[in-house]
Parts: sequence; C-alpha cells; structure tokens
Amino acid sequence: MTRAVCPGTFDPVTLGHVDVVERAARLFDEVVVAVGVNASKRRLFDDAERLAMLVEATAHLPGVRVEGFTGLLTDFCTAQGADVVVKGLRGAGDYEYELPMARMNDHLSGVETVFLAARPQFTHVSSSLVKEVATLGGDVAPFLSAAVHDRLLARLAERAGG
Ligand code: PNS
Repeated sequence: MTRAVCPGTFDPVTLGHVDVVERAARLFDEVVVAVGVNASKRRLFDDAERLAMLVEATAHLPGVRVEGFTGLLTDFCTAQGADVVVKGLRGAGDYEYELPMARMNDHLSGVETVFLAARPQFTHVSSSLVKEVATLGGDVAPFLSAAVHDRLLARLAERAGG
C-alpha cells in the first residue's frame, strides 16, 4: 500500500489545492493532507479553521484524511508511514521554491516528492493572491469552495470592521 502526504499551509485551501489532492487520491492508496504551521507566514485563519476547511473540502474523497503537523515534514511522513510527498507545480516559481525542499527531504529521510503539473485553470491561483484580491474587493468565488469563500469574506469583513 502506498500512502502519500499532501502538505501545505492552506490559508485558505483553494480549488487548486483540492485538484491536487483529488489527483493524488487517484494515484495512491491513501492520502494524508498535512496542514503545517509555518512560523514565517502570517496567517488569516488559525490552525483549527484551516483544518476544518480542509476536512470540508476533501469530504467527498475516500482514502483522504486531514492532519495537522508541526516540526519537520519528513518526521511527519515517517510517523504516518508515508513514502511520498505530493505537491502541485504552477510554474517556474513553484519549481524554484519546491526543488530545494524536495532535495532536503530526500536527504533527511529518503522520502520521494512527486510533482503534479497544475491544471491551466489553477496556474494563477494561490492562497495569498486570493486573499489580496478579495481584500481589495475582487471576485475570487471561482477559486474557492462556497464554504471557504463565505468564511473568507466573513473574516475579511471582521478584520475591516475591527
Ligand atoms: O503552503 P506551502 O508554502 O506550500 O507549505 C510549505 C510547507 C508547510 C509544506 C513547508 O514549509 C514544510 O514542509 N514545512 C515543515 C517544516 C520542514 O520540514 N521544513 C524543512 C523543509 S525542507
């Protein structure tokens, strides 16, 4: 049995992330979506909120579960019995960002990283761009589930009001 890990910050999860998880679920027996705490990133949603959004967004996928993780991704993969990390690549920028991590993770534990080419409709979609556009009043509904879209607009309204 092959178990894969799809890690990320997911602040918030986009339909581009969900597409990668769906495709990983077709390739591997089990997929663990690993919601990481990255101290260098300021987050709009806390850990529990990001986990809840992932659980909702992947509820239709058998063989997929969602876990939080802290510390090294390789330690999490070892604890989960996962041999593979799956990440989406939208373009050269993602490649430059992901390649050193893939190599370091291989060095640390021998875990393999599999890159899935992002579908064209998602190559311009990122959590940070979605947040920026939504903050400035742009329409980001096509890139999020209805539930995540509602939560995002509510959070931005809270922030704007307070
Ligand atoms: O949302 P992102 O930026 O794609 O997520 C990056 C993440 C959380 C997958 C990455 O920062 C990570 O693996 N963090 C865990 C800490 C770790 O293992 N750092 C060393 C990476 S080589």
